[in-house]
Amino acid sequence: MTLFTGANSELNRAAHAGFESRFHRPAHDLWSAPGRVNLIGEHTDYNDGFVLPFAIDRRTVVALAPRPDRIVRVASSFAGDIVELTLDELAPENLHGWSAYPLGVAWALGQFGADLTTVSGFDIYIDSDVPVGAGLSSSAAIESSVALALNEVWDLNLDRPTLARVGQLAENRVVGAPTGIMDQSASLLGQINSAVFLDCRSLEAEIIPFGLDEAGLELLIIDTRVSHSHATGGYSARRQSCEAGARLMGVKALRDLSVDDLDRASTVLDEETFRRVRHIVTENQRVLDTVQVLRESGCAAIGDLLDASHVSMRDDFEISAPELDLAVVTARGAGAIGARMTGGGFGGAAIALTPTELVPTVTTAVLAAFTLAGFATPDLFVVHAADGAHRE
Ligand code: GLA
Repeated sequence: MTLFTGANSELNRAAHAGFESRFHRPAHDLWSAPGRVNLIGEHTDYNDGFVLPFAIDRRTVVALAPRPDRIVRVASSFAGDIVELTLDELAPENLHGWSAYPLGVAWALGQFGADLTTVSGFDIYIDSDVPVGAGLSSSAAIESSVALALNEVWDLNLDRPTLARVGQLAENRVVGAPTGIMDQSASLLGQINSAVFLDCRSLEAEIIPFGLDEAGLELLIIDTRVSHSHATGGYSARRQSCEAGARLMGVKALRDLSVDDLDRASTVLDEETFRRVRHIVTENQRVLDTVQVLRESGCAAIGDLLDASHVSMRDDFEISAPELDLAVVTARGAGAIGARMTGGGFGGAAIALTPTELVPTVTTAVLAAFTLAGFATPDLFVVHAADGAHRE
């Protein structure tokens, strides 16, 4: 089990040092943005629905210094290269590989009003302790930290919901993943010990106290190490099914259907599309129910909703994986009070709401079950709800 120590200052030091060693001058400032965990509300964001993610205590740090010319250079702790372009060359077709995330954001800011013919160039170095490929939105952490940094350096005055849309546009148009608004919103709007209740249609967000400590609970992440990509395959197929379902049901988005519409949906839609739609409609309701239960009874009472969410993703939306199902079943059997896969699916991580004293028991049980099944060793660690993006 990896135990995160919350040593933000270590990451900051590493970002300063990395910047200096690559660019041979000191960085002016640091900005950081966290990864996220989604408590509940999966694939509901691009259906104009509800989500309840929170920012986590693992972050991406961006060290930046402006340049007097029109050159942009990006380097990072996870790649040996320095990618260099001019501001005039910032266009989706010129951006590839890992640098598509930070430079895609610079381009996307231009689509949201930044005048890229007058702003200054910059050098950026990126360091991070958000695990990549674990379904904890390492990409949104990069996008949000860079968006916040350039928003300040370029004096753009864009608000945080708009910066979330900037990150999403970079992801959709430059990286090529047809993802929703949840991850960037969590990274930019998160608050310590709280979840972000987001209406993905109006982009109105409400901070909901989470209260894990008071309840004697921890949120255990089980990273299956099964890799996934939302730029290819299943994610976009699910999105298309949802759009087809909305069209056939005569609504703008699946958000506009409620549980009462499901009987009609079962007569209008083919069997598979119906199950996709049923997941979204019931998942939206589960988000609303979770918010209500958190308010009225606290987080010890949301276990059943987490469990039901997993079953819906496994059977109706079909985005789970054998490793995720095993993680969930084993964690529940060993004492977690609720568990589900989290994020886009097809790999990545599960979450298990676990009494603090049972975290070692659940960890041991999951590791043993994975060994027995012949799966790769998963990574288990606890996360806490943390503050969103800020200047360090
Ligand atoms: C990924 C996407 C999000 C959201 C989730 C599923 O994390 O980036 O926009 O759709 O999957 O809830």
